[in-house]
Amino acid sequence: DKGQHRHFMAKEIHEQPSVIARALGAWISDDRHRIACAAEAVDWSGISRLTIVACGTAFYAAHVAKVWMERVARLPVEIEIASEFRYREPPLPARGVTMVVSQSGETADTLAALRYAKAQGQITLGLVNVTTSTIAREADIVLPIHAGPEIGVASTKAFTAMVLCLSALAVMIARKRGAIDAAGERAHVELLSTVPRLMSETIALEGQFEALARDIAEAKDALFLGRGLMYPLALEGALKLKEITYIHAEGYAAGEIKHGPIALVDEATPIVALAPHDALFEKIASNLREVMGRKGRVALIGDAGACREMGDEVWRSIALPAADPLLAPFLYAVAVQFIAYHAAVAKGTDVDQPRNLAKSVTVE
Ligand code: F6R
Repeated sequence: DKGQHRHFMAKEIHEQPSVIARALGAWISDDRHRIACAAEAVDWSGISRLTIVACGTAFYAAHVAKVWMERVARLPVEIEIASEFRYREPPLPARGVTMVVSQSGETADTLAALRYAKAQGQITLGLVNVTTSTIAREADIVLPIHAGPEIGVASTKAFTAMVLCLSALAVMIARKRGAIDAAGERAHVELLSTVPRLMSETIALEGQFEALARDIAEAKDALFLGRGLMYPLALEGALKLKEITYIHAEGYAAGEIKHGPIALVDEATPIVALAPHDALFEKIASNLREVMGRKGRVALIGDAGACREMGDEVWRSIALPAADPLLAPFLYAVAVQFIAYHAAVAKGTDVDQPRNLAKSVTVE
């Protein structure tokens, strides 16, 4: 049931604050001071590296998790695309942990990666939405993301629910490794508790994203740029746009554009910059000035601080709520989802059933 929405994707974007609140509720202790989940059974202090394997949007969630886990838990994390990992058959650390991430729990390459890791003697974790799935049955430890059924083929709420659960996992691992104390853990839980409100405030900006999306819908190509935690969001934004609008889009780490992609820049190619006013802002601002010097049309998705610094220079700007840098992925996910969604509506494509795509990819 789509409720008052035109498409399941719109419903699922709007549902995210309540989905995230529910997922967090399932991942914290009754006193709301600690992260509580089945992965506490693992001896995280004795682990040298975590390997996370996934496909598509789930892989981008893993990419966000890598940054969270390195920063909060000081844990080395390797992220792998399942279809590459499984055929490369890489050596894995003794007593290591491999986690697969999958909304459906049925993605063929991700399942094969799980089986490979198990055969190598790894402890395996399965972060899934569908808890009756094959991956849920075969992983040593199942971690549910609690997103509820996702109908739109382009993943939205499952992505942000994955990021939430992976962030919570990072906090638990940080405690187990002694990287944070009880007060630090409680502070992180409190921080995560603010996500639903911040996402609601971002959703309230829908009209601004719609206006931008109508212009992007006219383009043949688009670029998404980000740094740090915004790099995987740039990849996710490009994937969402190409999936449902069929506009050719690429996501890049902003520091990489001068190594080639800047050759693509012209006045016909919108450049969506995901740039909160964080420690990396001055770096991306200088990348954007290079692009604008070559007539690039930059749409700055930032916060008030970012828009204050660059708002007059860029083609378009939208200010998201200010948030702790660690929480930015949740807000910018909503932004790129709305841009793709409203560009697809403007183009009249089939938003919920894009051509050539299936909700669950059970072929290799
Ligand atoms: C993109 C999308 C796909 C899936 C990928 C993995 O919007 O939905 O890229 O993320 O096919 O699917 P799961 O998570 O079911 O393994």
